[in-house]
Amino acid sequence: MADLEYRPGLADVPVAESGISFIDGKRARLEYRGIAVETLAQESTFEETAWLLLKGELPNQRDLAVFDHNLRHHRRLKFRIIDLIKCLPESGHPMDALQAGVAASGMFYPGREVSNPEKNWESVVRLIAKLPTIIAAFHRLRQGNLPIEPRDDLSHAANFYYMLFEEEPSPSISRLLDACLILHAEHTMNASTFSGRVTASTLANPYTVVSSAIGTLTGPLHGGANEEVLDMLEEIGSVVKAKSWLEEAVESKKKIMGFGHRVYKVKDPRATVLQDLAENMFVETGKPEIYKLAVEIEKAALPILGPRGIYPNVDFYSGIIYQSLGISRDLFTPIFAIARVAGWLAHWLEQLKNNRIFRPEQIYIGKMDRPYLPLQNRP
Ligand code: ACO
Repeated sequence: MADLEYRPGLADVPVAESGISFIDGKRARLEYRGIAVETLAQESTFEETAWLLLKGELPNQRDLAVFDHNLRHHRRLKFRIIDLIKCLPESGHPMDALQAGVAASGMFYPGREVSNPEKNWESVVRLIAKLPTIIAAFHRLRQGNLPIEPRDDLSHAANFYYMLFEEEPSPSISRLLDACLILHAEHTMNASTFSGRVTASTLANPYTVVSSAIGTLTGPLHGGANEEVLDMLEEIGSVVKAKSWLEEAVESKKKIMGFGHRVYKVKDPRATVLQDLAENMFVETGKPEIYKLAVEIEKAALPILGPRGIYPNVDFYSGIIYQSLGISRDLFTPIFAIARVAGWLAHWLEQLKNNRIFRPEQIYIGKMDRPYLPLQNRP
């Protein structure tokens, strides 16, 4: 026991062998099953990327058509799940509603028998298909509106937008959202994926696996950072204050939200793609002040944080895109979950292939061999 080395945050400790995604943090490289994420964001769709992550290969036309058809077919929720969502407080965070909705869904569908590949695939399809509907239903209900039924003639991304706004997105918005989903679909052994794999290793049902991962994604050091970036930019208020605010924040050891990453020591490649997507969108709509401010913060941070390997991560620009589309701030992290469920489920299937229950060690630093004092003798 005395020889064990404690690595806070499990930094640099491998917890699995995985063939799903790869990061080179020094070269800003992220690959899903060997394909660069930039290429997928440009050429692929979320549905196709999800298949790639889950199966390891790009689908052929027929496989993709069947997968897409099945996803569309499983978007609807049981009325009891909608009733459950109705009972949740309107002021609650949609991530908590999503976690509750996913966990409860596991009570309706056969998922306990995780040794059956066909049943597991049904769970995969149901989970990917239903997450957007749960989030949109909660959002509509908290506004006092009836949920909007999903449409099976729309893509995954377009249907989510439609269920939020009761309006079809333009092809460019639909493509933008789709690319955001691709960019967030998988990211090696991060906190939520690890959390899902730990739950998977107990052979728990996939709805529980995904609800564990959703819970872990909520925190501001993980998925929750995209909301905090917007709060931070609003607090700064104007482009002219960017440099002085940043310098003061670094001086007082404040964490800059949307900056820094355990693995990337250069700018997160997803942030670069998202920024390009944002720039393209702003050609049509004009650059919002908040985007100009974000760019100034990045510029001001470069000479101070850059040498320490702290650069914008995926969350720095994603929230600005979603806000420009009129999406509520507290839906940013749920959108992350709509995408990441593909990666979580790929890890679930991979974990099951060669499972051993996670049971790490601890280094005990508490007291030992103490006498038990009867209650009346305690000071
Ligand atoms: N702003 C300022 N300084 C930072 C930042 C930041 N955003 N991130 C790290 N640092 C500094 C720390 O203060 C620390 O400095 P020190 O060595 O002088 O104490 C050093 O860099 C190492 O930081 P850690 O927090 O120990 O790095 P770790 O790898 O554990 O954390 C994390 C990574 C959590 C992402 C961190 O960079 C952070 O808190 N960033 C802000 C929140 C954020 O944007 N999260 C989203 C991450 S991406 C995602 O989950 C999708």
